[in-house]
Amino acid sequence: MTTPATDDESHRAETPPPPPPEPSSDGGNGDGSDHGGDAGTDEELHGLLAEFDTPGALIAAARKVKNAGFTEFDCYSPFPVHGIDAAMGIQRTKLPLLVFAGGLAGLFLGTLMQWWMNAYDWPWNVAGKPTWSIPANVPISYETTILLSVLTTFFGMWAANKLPQVWHPFFRLDRFAKATDDGFFLGVEASDKRFDLEQTKQLLVAAGASHVDECYVDARPEARTMPRWILAAMAVLTMLAVIPIALVYKARATKSNQPHYHVFSDMDFQPKAKSDQPFTEFADGRANRGQLLGTVARGALKADDAYYRGLSGGQWLTGLPVQVEPTSAVIDRGQERYNIYCAPCHGFDGAGHGIIPERMAMLGGAWEARNLVDRGSVVIKMPNGQLFNTISNGNNTMMGYAAQIPVDDRWAIVLYVRALERSQNAAESELPPGAEVR
Ligand code: HEC
Repeated sequence: MTTPATDDESHRAETPPPPPPEPSSDGGNGDGSDHGGDAGTDEELHGLLAEFDTPGALIAAARKVKNAGFTEFDCYSPFPVHGIDAAMGIQRTKLPLLVFAGGLAGLFLGTLMQWWMNAYDWPWNVAGKPTWSIPANVPISYETTILLSVLTTFFGMWAANKLPQVWHPFFRLDRFAKATDDGFFLGVEASDKRFDLEQTKQLLVAAGASHVDECYVDARPEARTMPRWILAAMAVLTMLAVIPIALVYKARATKSNQPHYHVFSDMDFQPKAKSDQPFTEFADGRANRGQLLGTVARGALKADDAYYRGLSGGQWLTGLPVQVEPTSAVIDRGQERYNIYCAPCHGFDGAGHGIIPERMAMLGGAWEARNLVDRGSVVIKMPNGQLFNTISNGNNTMMGYAAQIPVDDRWAIVLYVRALERSQNAAESELPPGAEVR
């Protein structure tokens, strides 16, 4: 790069000694190979570039060149030209096959990875589940299948198109720039077995080319090597990329009692008050302000003693709260809830012989739930409010069910317990007419 500018400039493809301006319609055609051509003796021929005026002419020429047996040629146009693939004899892409292979590899490797981790290297019993089971592996295997398919698609497309290619010998021809605007080009490479400079030129002219240019590869060594600054930048980036890995390895090998380094310290140390921490802004020195006295959330005021606590004027409620109507629908609901929540201990009939006491007896224990329906039971005499309170808060060894059973349902159960009691203590006079007494 330090050679005298004159020497350098004379070979520069980009900046030839300015030729006398020519009419644009004939630009570059007069001397045929305006770039590289003047140094043709020592520069290697890359190929011929022929320009056509219309997409149709390009297709016809591509067909001719293909039929002449050429394989190393390509077409360049400002927009996709329909039918050009068939005219050039381009085969259908093999990419789908590659992608399929990539997907299979992903499926296999993903499954293998899970087997190795879960069933072989570190088998771990999670709730008695098998360490190796295909259904459990489906999500990950599915993802790795997609991952490798996508990567093969992406990089396969680049590789199949020989990308990235930042430079092409045709770029040395000014005319070639028209390929992005209004020029339709067909380039035949000299490496093709059929290539012969004169004959191929004639073939292209006969195919209707308006211009045919020879294209030479820039033979200067500096034109074939990457610019120094790019190499330097790559070297620097590579060295920088090693630093994080080195730091990780250093951290693994050494001990430190320093707090870890905070990259985004604002996320770790925010100016905020945490509850149960001291906080000087308030007179009492606490961050937690507690609940405001007397505040009740909307809809959470449970002022109705009868409904929520079974109380009336400090005594157990004997009747029913106004919200509870003793309809058969409510009693049915009470039966259903009772059978779920109470029958396991108190039995379906309320006599205290549910499945749990039965099991206790089998195990040799003597544990009983209270008989709710016996004439002598405390329950039969207890006011509705007290029964409601027992369901809500429990009694002695029976726990409360307020957490599981909503208030409405607790009252429905009260009604059903009453129905159970009545059904088993009915006087003969209370029976419906025609009932059989045994
Ligand atoms: C896990 C078993 C169990 C379940 C479930 C259970 N109970 Fe009890 N219940 C008991 C036992 C045991 C007692 C006796 C408590 C004691 O006095 O030690 C009892 C006592 C009672 C009493 C008498 C309380 C008193 O003041 O003597 C009532 C009424 C009662 N249960 C109603 C119910 C209702 C209604 C349900 C369904 C919501 C229910 N229980 C669910 C075990 C159970």
